[in-house]
Amino acid sequence: MSELNLKSFDIPVLSYLSEEHFIAIEELSSKLSLSRIDIEKQVQQLEQLGYSLATDEKRRLRIISRPDILLPIEIKNKLTSSYIGQTIYYFPALTSTNTIAKKKLIEKIEKIPEGTIIITEKQSGGKGRSGKRWYSPQGGIWFSVILYPDLIPSNILIITLMTAVAVAKTIHQLFPQISIQIKWPNDLLIEDRKVCGILTEATTNKKNAKWVILGIGINANNDLSELPEDIRKDSISLKEVAGQLIPRALLVSDLCVQLEKWYEKLKRKDFISILKEWRLYSNIIGKEVKIDTGGKIITGEVIDLTRSGALILKIDKGKIKEIISGTVLK
Ligand code: BTN
Repeated sequence: MSELNLKSFDIPVLSYLSEEHFIAIEELSSKLSLSRIDIEKQVQQLEQLGYSLATDEKRRLRIISRPDILLPIEIKNKLTSSYIGQTIYYFPALTSTNTIAKKKLIEKIEKIPEGTIIITEKQSGGKGRSGKRWYSPQGGIWFSVILYPDLIPSNILIITLMTAVAVAKTIHQLFPQISIQIKWPNDLLIEDRKVCGILTEATTNKKNAKWVILGIGINANNDLSELPEDIRKDSISLKEVAGQLIPRALLVSDLCVQLEKWYEKLKRKDFISILKEWRLYSNIIGKEVKIDTGGKIITGEVIDLTRSGALILKIDKGKIKEIISGTVLK
């Protein structure tokens, strides 16, 4: 894993450089209280990262093009949330953002504010549900959010549903032409193929959750040809359906805003609003489904969801069964 070297990705000149206006090095240096040499070093760093800059006759600077990179400052430039995404740990590559988040929470070396995100360009050991591997090549959006909800353990499922709503709404707002569906509990599908998966990991004591790690994986600009054949056939990338490169930093910052909006409802125990929105993106209610609940296959008609997001199934002879975890097979 290449550990974060925060300093090297902390490039404050980026807050003042834009595509629209030229800015003088002297002005950058007075705005940031940095020497001219420090500013020039940051400019060099930007060029190394793939930013292309133009200089005018007065040696003022302007951005011509940006690389597709998830630098914290690129996410924060557009961020209007008050805590989700306000602290960002960025890694060019790592094993799994969930694993690193967990490590940080367990080691307690520093205080991790609620809403902190761990984000990376690629994962070598990405984790999916049920112990499955999650392929996470360059170009996707792979990140984890740390939350401290005041929830009893049996209500943790609603966090996954809330996250699915936030992702669906973010994608819908950016690309209204794309029709996105939620598959219970944690998959987002476009044209019946998976575009996003959510892995919620929590540590609870008897009464409530101590912390929750929300792992979100979105096939954004990654090439599906890098996925194994069996996974590729059921996957789709946003760039493929949108027909354009996805502005990943913008998507992440919009998603942080949506997550905060829906998490605030969750904190107020307004589960009804979350479930209402969830139903708009799902067509499972009233359907006959087959669910794999860890080896046991249960078939039935979905009557509704419980207040905490479990499926209420009508199984044989009209018997009612609640399912709190499993994979919907059809
Ligand atoms: C699934 O559908 O099986 C859940 C996939 C979750 C993948 C994300 S990518 C970011 C975070 N880190 C991980 O290792 N997994 C989650």
